[in-house]
Amino acid sequence: MTGTQPFSIHALELGPMENFIYLIHDHATDRAAIVDPAWDVPEILALAAKRGVRITDILLTHSHHDHINGIEEVLQRHDAQLHLLKAEAGFWGSYLDLPTLHHGGDVIELGETPVRVLHTPGHTPGSACYHIGDNLITGDTLFVFGCGRCDLAGGDPEQMYTTLRDMAERLPGDTVIHPGHNYAEKPVSTLDEQVDGNPFMHFDTPERFVQYRMHYHDRHRHSPYGPVCRGHEMNDA
Ligand SMILES: [Fe+2]
Repeated sequence: MTGTQPFSIHALELGPMENFIYLIHDHATDRAAIVDPAWDVPEILALAAKRGVRITDILLTHSHHDHINGIEEVLQRHDAQLHLLKAEAGFWGSYLDLPTLHHGGDVIELGETPVRVLHTPGHTPGSACYHIGDNLITGDTLFVFGCGRCDLAGGDPEQMYTTLRDMAERLPGDTVIHPGHNYAEKPVSTLDEQVDGNPFMHFDTPERFVQYRMHYHDRHRHSPYGPVCRGHEMNDA
């Protein structure tokens, strides 16, 4: 994204659910990781070819179909190592060829670019975010002005509440958020902007968060999401 960083992050919006698929390019080695390969693998591989990179790794934010349905097609063409959290592998239960299973805090070395794995449960038990420099690839944990649903199998809104609070407390405010879907008025944001305008980051008790996530939000708010003023989360606009 900037010329001074040892890596760049490229986004493709693919498929009927506005998924973002990311390519992380390590400039020193021209190695690349695909995050959540899905929907249109030829398009993803064309981007990699255009950048002149070798796809060596596949990183999963979680195991939902819309984030993984291109894995096999990538693996047919590239000898890439698959990475996900151990907690997600147990939840997924799918047959996988020798994936590397991680725990939160692990670092994946993509050439000279360290990718730190965060365990961010809530949407699924083993959801992961990937921290690269001042960027965070958030999957379905944090969207721009939204967050992933918690009512599907393996979802847990109380865990999501804790995950989002930890994220706000532990990561720098200028961290750039790269979500798993294009559900907002713009594709990227900063953590500061989300703490201010993302209604899911406004709650001080898990009870109110759970009420909003599970019973209020989807009936009252529709994408593209925009900012919500603090204290106005449950005002019908
Ligand atoms: Fe998902």
